[in-house]
Amino acid sequence: MRGLTRRTFLTGAAAAAGVAAGPRVLRSHAQGGPIKIGVVLPYTGVYAVLGESITQAMELVFARENWTVAGRKIEMIKEDDEMQPPVGIRKTEKLIDSDKVDILTGPVHSGILMGMRDKVHNSKTILIVSNAGADAISRERCSKWIFRASFSNWQPNQPMGGWVAKNVSKDVFLMAPNYAAGKDQLGAFKETFVPAGGKLVGEDYPKLGETDYAPYLTKIKGSGAKAVYAFFSGTDAVNFVKQFDQYGLKQSIKLTGAGFLTEPDVLPAQGKSALGIITGHFYTPLLDNPTNQKFVKDFREKFAGKMPDGFACQGYDTAETIVRALKAVNGNTQDKEKLVAAIEKTEFDSPRGRFRFDPKTHNVIQPFIYVREVKEVTGGLNNVVIDKIANVTDPGTGCTLPA
Ligand code: PHB
Repeated sequence: MRGLTRRTFLTGAAAAAGVAAGPRVLRSHAQGGPIKIGVVLPYTGVYAVLGESITQAMELVFARENWTVAGRKIEMIKEDDEMQPPVGIRKTEKLIDSDKVDILTGPVHSGILMGMRDKVHNSKTILIVSNAGADAISRERCSKWIFRASFSNWQPNQPMGGWVAKNVSKDVFLMAPNYAAGKDQLGAFKETFVPAGGKLVGEDYPKLGETDYAPYLTKIKGSGAKAVYAFFSGTDAVNFVKQFDQYGLKQSIKLTGAGFLTEPDVLPAQGKSALGIITGHFYTPLLDNPTNQKFVKDFREKFAGKMPDGFACQGYDTAETIVRALKAVNGNTQDKEKLVAAIEKTEFDSPRGRFRFDPKTHNVIQPFIYVREVKEVTGGLNNVVIDKIANVTDPGTGCTLPA
C-alpha cells in the first residue's frame, strides 16, 4: 500500500472497470450492480502486516471466482483505520452511509471493533469480523448482524493456561499491550492457569506500539519467573521477541504466548530469537489437510513466496463465507434477513479445518487450538504442532441471539 496518497483503495470490479466506474456507482445498490464489500483494516501502524495478510487472502478467494458471484461483480472498498478508533469509526460510517456497502469486514483492533459495534448494529449492516477478538462481541455486545470468522480473544488463550501450568512452569509472568485485547487474552489464560496450580509472579501492560521493552524485561528478570506468557502482535511481537533474546532472558526463561506472537508475518524479522517459543493458535501453515496445502501453494505463488499466517487464514475464511452465502441467496443482498440466515448456515473445509459459526454467538468454533513450537523446518522457521485441543467454543456468556 506504500506510495498511495489516498487512503481509499478499490480492487476488483471497480479498478478493472476504470472509466466505467461512474455509471456503476449510480446503479450500485440495485440488484445486478456490483456487490460492495467495505473493508476497515490497518494498512499503517503496528498491525499493518496483519491488514495486509487478511486483504491478500480475501483477494485470492475473490480472484478465484473471477471477481463475480451469482452474476454480480465483487468490489472491495478498502479503508485504512490507521489503528485509531476514531478513524476506524469514521471510515465505518463513510462505508455504511456514503458507499452503502452490502457487507462490511475488518477490523484488526478490538477497540475499533467495540467502537464500530453500535453503528453496525443500528444500521443493520452485516459485519464479518476478520480479526479483532474483543470477547464482548460474542457475549453481552453480540449482534445478529455481526459474525466473526477469526477468533474471540478467549479462544487461543484459555486452553493454554492449563497446558503451560502442566507442561512448562507454574511460575509465570504475564505481559500484553495495554488495551482491550491484552486484558481479554491474559484474562482467558488465567482462567485455567490458576486452577491448575499456576502462580502469577508478575503481570504488566506496556503501551500498544512500545518500542523499548527494557524496563519490562528488567522486571521479568527480577521476578523469579520460570516462564513468560505474552500476547503481542505485528511490530510489537518483533520488538518484544528480539529484545527478550538480546536481553539474555531466552537462556533461562521459557517464552510462551498466544499464537500471534510468532506468526509467519513476524517470524522472518524475529529470526532465530523466535526459536523454541511455544504458542497456542487455531492455525499453522504446516497443517496437512488438502485445503490448507492448496491455500499455502496458491498464496505463495500469488504473493512472491510469502508464507500465509493465521491472519491470511481469517481473510480466506471471511471471503469464502461471503462467496458461499451470496451464492446461497443467488446474489440477493436486499433481503438481509435471508443473507444472515445463509451466513449462519455456511460451513466448509477451511485451511484451519471444518469452518462453522456457533449459532449461539455467531463466533467461529475453532476445530482445534494447536500448541505449536517454533522450529527450523524446510523453508525456514515455522510453528510446528506439538499438541492440540479440539472444538474450542467461546462460552458466549450474556449473548442471546437474535439481539
Ligand atoms: C485485537 O485487537 O483484537 C487483536 C489484535 C491483534 C491480534 C489479535 C487480536 O493479533
